[in-house]
Amino acid sequence: MIKYLGSKRRLVPVLEAIAASSGARSALDLFTGTTRVAQAFKRLGLLVTAVDLSRYAEVFARCYVETDGDAIHQRELEDALTHLNALPGSAGYVTDTFCRRARFFQPFNGERIDAIRDAIESDYAGTPLEPVLLTSLIEAADRVDSTVGVQMAFVKQWAPRSYRRLELVRPSLLAGTGRAVRGDARTIAGSLGSFDLAYLDPPYNQHRYFTNYHVWETLVAWDAPAHYGVACKRIDAKDPATRSEFNSKRTMPAALADTVASVDCGLLLLSYNDESWVAVDELERMCSHHREVVTLAFESARYVGARIGIHDPRGVKVGTVSHLYNREYLVVAGEVTVVRGAVAAATQAHPALRSSAPLGARASQRRR
Ligand SMILES: C[S@@+](CC[C@H](N)C(=O)[O-])C[C@H]1O[C@@H](n2cnc3c(N)ncnc32)[C@H](O)[C@@H]1O
Repeated sequence: MIKYLGSKRRLVPVLEAIAASSGARSALDLFTGTTRVAQAFKRLGLLVTAVDLSRYAEVFARCYVETDGDAIHQRELEDALTHLNALPGSAGYVTDTFCRRARFFQPFNGERIDAIRDAIESDYAGTPLEPVLLTSLIEAADRVDSTVGVQMAFVKQWAPRSYRRLELVRPSLLAGTGRAVRGDARTIAGSLGSFDLAYLDPPYNQHRYFTNYHVWETLVAWDAPAHYGVACKRIDAKDPATRSEFNSKRTMPAALADTVASVDCGLLLLSYNDESWVAVDELERMCSHHREVVTLAFESARYVGARIGIHDPRGVKVGTVSHLYNREYLVVAGEVTVVRGAVAAATQAHPALRSSAPLGARASQRRR
């Protein structure tokens, strides 16, 4: 799995425990990113719909959620990976843009990315293997990149991992099928259908995924876009159409409220973080059309860039990082017994979790 801001590695056991204990058979992962959470739900046997705005997340969802690992022709996949891994490098857009102008990969790996991506386009476009091979390529490129996990900058000295040869590996496909959808959560939440469980993990701040992971966008689009800046971002990053309402302090609260109201589900799980623009009680109010609302809280380390510090392009430390830990929240909403069951399962899976009193009980205490 790629390095990804906001990826819910540590929360997955909690979400799994909740999903398993709830008896849910269908699940929505509305801001799926790496699809880590969607994969966990699918592994439990749920029928999963995974949604995201970005092209690369759609590819991951087509690979890990939509593709039935039992239906893929294993021999064909192995042959394709062997063939692509053996291709000689051939300098193209990636080498020129992301290895010479910017320094996200070493040129010898950039040439291999160019050759492999061209071959996927010419030999596998439109086939069931396409999303699997693209996922394999992005994950391989991520393992040899020279960043701290976002593509707005690259590290001054080549990262030690960037010297390794890029190698495609077979993604761990899961049995069964599901649905991958690319779209704006606010616009499509109401038309996705009804789910036993819905997990919402929206962006928390102004840092746009479109620019933080522009290299993956371009690897999927394969459109050789004009670019700008030291990081060689896609020129369409300047286009308002590529902005998400969830990355603006002005538009995010209404977008989130609308989205939460539109999702049709029995159990709602909403991830949130204390760096966000919305206070936790506001978030609970957004969920209060459900009968019971409880918030779980736990501490979490911030992304690796925050731990390393802020540096200028010459590698000189130029700023200080305010804090190394966040408080993560999980708002749980649904029928009373369902929410109680979910909270019990979550605290068993993660004993350090703290849980608030139900929203209704707090309101009646205040009235007394
Ligand atoms: C916090 S991350 C989700 C991480 C994910 N849960 C994981 O574990 O990998 C937020 C995601 O929301 C997506 N996103 C941003 N704006 C969106 C929108 N308007 N509609 C749908 N997805 C959006 C981003 O592309 C990003 O993948």
